[in-house]
Amino acid sequence: MNRRIQVGIIGAGPAGLLLSQLLHLKGIESVVLEIRSRKDIEETIRAGVLEQGTVDLMNEIGAGERMKKEGFPHEGIYLRFNGRDQRIDFPQLTGGKKVMVYAQHEVLKDLLQVRLDAGGDIRFEVNGVSVYDLDTAEPKIRFHTQNDEVEEITCDFIAGCDGTQGVCRPSIPAGVLTTYERVYPFGWFGILCKAPPSSEELIYALHERGFALVSTRSPEIQRMYFQVDPTDKVDNWPDERIWAEFRARLATQDGWTPKEGPIFHKVIVGMRSFVVEPMQYGRLFLAGDSAHVVPPTGAKGLNLAAADVQVLAKAITEFYASGRKDLLDQYSETALRRIWKAQRFSWWMTSMLHRFPGGDAFQYRVQLAELDYVTSSRAAATSLAENYVGLPMD
Ligand code: FAD
Ligand code: PHB
Repeated sequence: MNRRIQVGIIGAGPAGLLLSQLLHLKGIESVVLEIRSRKDIEETIRAGVLEQGTVDLMNEIGAGERMKKEGFPHEGIYLRFNGRDQRIDFPQLTGGKKVMVYAQHEVLKDLLQVRLDAGGDIRFEVNGVSVYDLDTAEPKIRFHTQNDEVEEITCDFIAGCDGTQGVCRPSIPAGVLTTYERVYPFGWFGILCKAPPSSEELIYALHERGFALVSTRSPEIQRMYFQVDPTDKVDNWPDERIWAEFRARLATQDGWTPKEGPIFHKVIVGMRSFVVEPMQYGRLFLAGDSAHVVPPTGAKGLNLAAADVQVLAKAITEFYASGRKDLLDQYSETALRRIWKAQRFSWWMTSMLHRFPGGDAFQYRVQLAELDYVTSSRAAATSLAENYVGLPMD
């Protein structure tokens, strides 16, 4: 079967679903192709912190109802070092901004619901997706449907929202993209456990044994991470060893201990910084993780995806409204300015808060001094706060 659509979107992650809803609200038709099932998408545990701008976007596009009820607004974070907490107060330092702790898979459930309620065309469990004729006015997508029929869609534009392992970025001819990458010599061991939050706000801790993070998901479920060797295995970490590690890294001078409970999810994620430039080839536009990856320390991954598609949706909308192509031509440059600032912030938070293999006592002292500076200078604290809640869109 062959059909025509204005925008073909590959990937039903945050980038793809937000883009398709933004376009829908402007009367632009899209189809979203996704290799996974709806259930899979709605169950994959990933990010947890939404910037103020992402929260505003969810509300604006009519997907914010449940988030408003079930999400947790956070007005600050704690930086824990030398066995003490120092708080960064977001509203005070940013003119009233804050963040929302609301899990990525909940965001995805809400986005899928609004898209499907609006009659959105989302094809789950497709396979063999390929994109071609990208440098023509009629780029095309070919794929196998759930029933293994081959379908072809001719588009005005294709949005590559298919994450790090997708097909869009590799479909751009060799020599077009420049890749910038840094792989970190550690990963994060993440757990979900049945326990109430140990802290009202997130705790980012630096300890001689390495980084630890206390986050939350709900009044009953806690999300926590600690730094490990990226080649380590989940099986090496029985629950009691995990709790001993958290207790050691999160210890304070006044005897703080985390709330403990049965652990029901364990994962090790590698950490890297990655950007390709430009984020466009012909009529294919990359958005979100397909074009860039950040280490999770700054909680920026999902938020960057949301920012990219706002820039892209505006450019596509303007094209259909007035025939203007300049915003499309500038998409990559506009998005990359903000992306590089988020890359810098994520790299900086990561460098300040992790022990590096071979890192000596001097490096550790410098990290502690940096944390002391960041939490005692209003200028430095403001810099952290304004990046954490999210920089302006332009
Ligand atoms: P994705 O969410 O990856 O969505 C891409 C979609 O495209 C997926 O649904 C995928 O199935 C689909 N797809 C892939 N290939 C194809 C294809 N060929 N055809 C059709 N569909 C395809 N960020 C944080 O800020 N904090 C965290 O704690 C954090 N933890 C993470 C843990 C893990 C394991 C991972 C992988 C990422 C994590 N991130 C985290 C990053 C954050 O989740 C991403 O930045 C965010 O999901 C990016 O959204 P996206 O829509 O660009 O890509
Ligand atoms: C999370 O809750 O999953 C989370 C919070 C903060 C981060 C990264 C992940 O920096």
